[in-house]
Amino acid sequence: MARVALVTGGTRGIGAAIAIALKNAGYKVAANYAGNDEAAGKFKDETGIPVYKWSVADYDACAAGIAQVEADLGPVDVLVNNAGITRDAMFHKMTRDQWHDVMGTNLNGVFNMTHPLWTGMRDRKFGRVITISSINGQKGQMGQANYSAAKAGDIGFTKALAQEGARAGITVNVICPGYIATDMVMAVPEKVRESIIAQIPVGRLGEPEDIARCVVFLASDEASFITGATLTANGGQYLT
Ligand code: CAA
Repeated sequence: MARVALVTGGTRGIGAAIAIALKNAGYKVAANYAGNDEAAGKFKDETGIPVYKWSVADYDACAAGIAQVEADLGPVDVLVNNAGITRDAMFHKMTRDQWHDVMGTNLNGVFNMTHPLWTGMRDRKFGRVITISSINGQKGQMGQANYSAAKAGDIGFTKALAQEGARAGITVNVICPGYIATDMVMAVPEKVRESIIAQIPVGRLGEPEDIARCVVFLASDEASFITGATLTANGGQYLT
């Protein structure tokens, strides 16, 4: 029986590459998205992967959305917490909304998605929880006090939950991508983006597929001894 994978923010950018890679690896995949109906429709038409709309920032919406995915595809074996947003601003200009929006999606969203799935994974004695954090959760980034805090929180969440899941056959891992060629990074002012690329030893932005391959590995049976790990994929920009 094919395993079921659910990817949040799975219709664009890194998430879309993850959803496609998991499908190609034999999983039944569901892709969640929050807002961009046009991109989601295009993704569904091109890939045949079903899409489901809800905000990961809303716990009740997550519980209802997960129930729908499980009714359609079966119990979720692999959760990829990929959905993320930026609301970049220097801290002296940062608003409460910019702080709370980023916390709501990038940190609370990981709780909201993992919590409703956790009991089922424990009961079935198998699960994979893979969260997409960021290089900026590791090193901090000016203009991103909100984002860096949330992404660092994702790493702590992973280390704690891995210890709880280990005896139940659930691995919990986090991937820290560096700067990847997606809309999010392209939204950074060009001058700043060029200075960032100059700091990447491999000399280029990453591709979404660079991260998708990490997810496929961590989801596999071959990765069953790896839990609580932080996998960095950043072209050498920041070495932990
Ligand atoms: N690296 C180096 N310098 C930076 C910088 C960065 N990431 N961000 C800002 N600066 C510098 C600017 O070049 C500028 O320097 P000068 O005064 O010498 O020109 C100074 O800081 C102030 O910046 P701005 O003039 O742009 O100030 P602003 O208030 O108009 O905008 C900002 C501030 C919104 C933070 C904007 O600079 C910005 O968007 N910076 C990029 C922040 C960033 O790196 N975000 C990452 C997004 S991608 C992502 O998050 C994905 C991931 O996980 C890696």
